[in-house]
Amino acid sequence: MSEEKKIYRLGLLTSGGDAPGMNAAIRAVVRTAVADGVSVLGVKRGYNGLIKGDVFEMTARTVDGITSKGGTILNTARCDEFRTEEGVKRAADFCGYMGVDAIVGIGGDGTYRGLRDLSKYGISVIGIPATIDNDIACTHYAIGFDTASNTAISAIDKLSDTMQSHERCSIVEVMGRNAGQLAVYVAVGCGAGAVLIPEKEVDYKKDIVDKIRHNRIVGKNHFIIILAEGVGNAAELADKIRQDTGLETRVSILGHIQRGGSPSARDRTMASRMGYTAVKLLEQGKSNIVVCYRNSSITDIDIDEALDMRKDIEPVLYNVSHTLSL
Ligand code: F6P
Repeated sequence: MSEEKKIYRLGLLTSGGDAPGMNAAIRAVVRTAVADGVSVLGVKRGYNGLIKGDVFEMTARTVDGITSKGGTILNTARCDEFRTEEGVKRAADFCGYMGVDAIVGIGGDGTYRGLRDLSKYGISVIGIPATIDNDIACTHYAIGFDTASNTAISAIDKLSDTMQSHERCSIVEVMGRNAGQLAVYVAVGCGAGAVLIPEKEVDYKKDIVDKIRHNRIVGKNHFIIILAEGVGNAAELADKIRQDTGLETRVSILGHIQRGGSPSARDRTMASRMGYTAVKLLEQGKSNIVVCYRNSSITDIDIDEALDMRKDIEPVLYNVSHTLSL
């Protein structure tokens, strides 16, 4: 049940790792709020800005021209002090002092935990999912995932050209922290020979060594392995493959390049829709929720429920990757 509570001023922050499309979400929140007569305070560097009082008034003009820009104009950070009761209280006191009735937090699970803590002080809160890892269980889609996948695939296409020329094996490490969503999606998109993710065991001999040998017999002269960063050491794997197959193997770690760049059309539109929805939900008196994308619709879910959920790899996509790697 949602309690009716009029929102006059909301605080807006981005927290955790940045993701392409965060700026489009910021613009959507600010402009929707302004259109409805709600004022917006931009909070700098995630929860740090709420604790330190590092905020500024945002207007429709503050967000001109930012949709196409990667990163976040609010800056982002992880905040250890906000993990303490004292830190949360300082932030809540600051909200009271500034007349902030609601906080919109753009980020992942860590951001929602912070919002939940803040809500205990009577502040309305809502989360918007943004992370290139796409590991937030309550939503099928998180802002940034599409751009990061495209960035990775376009880098791997380039790597493929040179690996093919030299008839090598290429291990490409992609981000994702402890999750393999990005790795599997990228593996399908670039036609990888194998994908290694934390969620699934692979049979090294059958799925890597035998496959490389089979590939050579059927005339495929290079082999791409997508390795999720949560799996382990890419260099050690390369040494092992070299020893066991004799194939020259190179490692490329794509790293933070995947988090940058101008957001894709999908990230821009998804971020705009989610930002708009977040403000509308707050105005309807809803709180303690996360905006999410499920079954082709933008909807919302209770924060506690969202934080209790666990995301698994989509089995069909994983099987597609495996089957097409013949
Ligand atoms: O959660 C996003 C992410 O990019 C992960 O994929 C990665 O493990 C982590 O953040 C890197 O964090 P940092 O930018 O602090 O090194």
